[in-house]
Amino acid sequence: MPMTMKVGFFDAKNYDRNVFNACNDGDDLEIHYFGDRLNEESVRLAKGMDAVCIFVDDVCDRHVIDLLQKNGVRLIALRCAGFNNVDLQEAQRCNIPVVRVPAYSPHAVAEYAVTLMLCLNRKVYRSTNRTREWNFKLDGLMGFDMYGKTVGIVGLGRIARCVAEILHGFGMKVLAYDLYPDKNYAKQHDIELVDLNELYQHSDIITLHVPLTSRTQYMINNVSIDKMKPGVMIINTGRGKLISSDALIQGLRSGQISCAGLDVYEDEQKYFYEDLSDSIINDDKLSILLTMPNVIVTSHQAFFTKEAMSNIAKTTLQNIRDFAAGKTLDNEVKS
Ligand code: NAI
Repeated sequence: MPMTMKVGFFDAKNYDRNVFNACNDGDDLEIHYFGDRLNEESVRLAKGMDAVCIFVDDVCDRHVIDLLQKNGVRLIALRCAGFNNVDLQEAQRCNIPVVRVPAYSPHAVAEYAVTLMLCLNRKVYRSTNRTREWNFKLDGLMGFDMYGKTVGIVGLGRIARCVAEILHGFGMKVLAYDLYPDKNYAKQHDIELVDLNELYQHSDIITLHVPLTSRTQYMINNVSIDKMKPGVMIINTGRGKLISSDALIQGLRSGQISCAGLDVYEDEQKYFYEDLSDSIINDDKLSILLTMPNVIVTSHQAFFTKEAMSNIAKTTLQNIRDFAAGKTLDNEVKS
């Protein structure tokens, strides 16, 4: 009889429960859903669990990991690709493996990045608001042809490659920068590998698809923004801390940046995925960004398609089952 694994599922929303329950076809995993995000306080809920399943904004720092270990947790299963919120060294020290879902649908995120580009360029969100008020004027809605323009893709991994493919379809020139560039792939797919300075200098649109690391944190700052083509559009579906919001606001105010599409924000843990419409929000940077007509902020939703959610659930459950069976963990992340 295989052992039943108890899984503490943090930050559970209704859509998570529905998808995970539909995909959990065995009786070897007992999932306990908690609405709370994992943090120093909620970690007590993990007592008696064999594994915790967490998402992008759960806190899994050194202190929380120590408490997970004290509570008997043996596995941290991320139901996302990024792992910047987990202290991997501490997890390793505590002998708690960390698994993730490396690729669930790069298409979902890539298509969303392009959605942000199109919405910003053609101002669909503004025109929709206007026509609801019976205002059919076009003033302020002029966009530009994507055809013939240059996009600069930062990182050339799974998501970025899908973005490149879509934008080639629009007739755009594609530049890319990656720390470990795959020159053959780039050559075969008509992507010009450049250094970051060249990418900043020549791109009409810059879209970020690198992980958040000590090297990429705040890579979009006053210095890099100064190097960009005046009037550049910036898209971030990567991680919030890739961009210094202060510098972005300054760039938007000066006009150096014409518009920004942000699916992530540097302090998003405090707000995203919650309805705060009745609250007074004490965040000047986010407040300024939300007042700007040329900025779109969405709540880290680029991954959110049926296909991606189903793949996330299947891979996460398989990761946990592999651990329970003592198999090699293909999707383990190591420090
Ligand atoms: P990936 O691992 O396939 O690609 C990342 C690429 O970035 C790799 O080619 C790597 O060599 C490159 N890279 C790493 N450090 C770099 C640096 N310092 N400078 C330049 N290039 C560097 O990852 P994937 O699947 O394409 O995802 C990218 C990021 O997108 C994830 O790390 C995650 O943070 C974010 N993401 C956001 C989602 C959302 O819903 N908004 C959903 C999924 C991922």
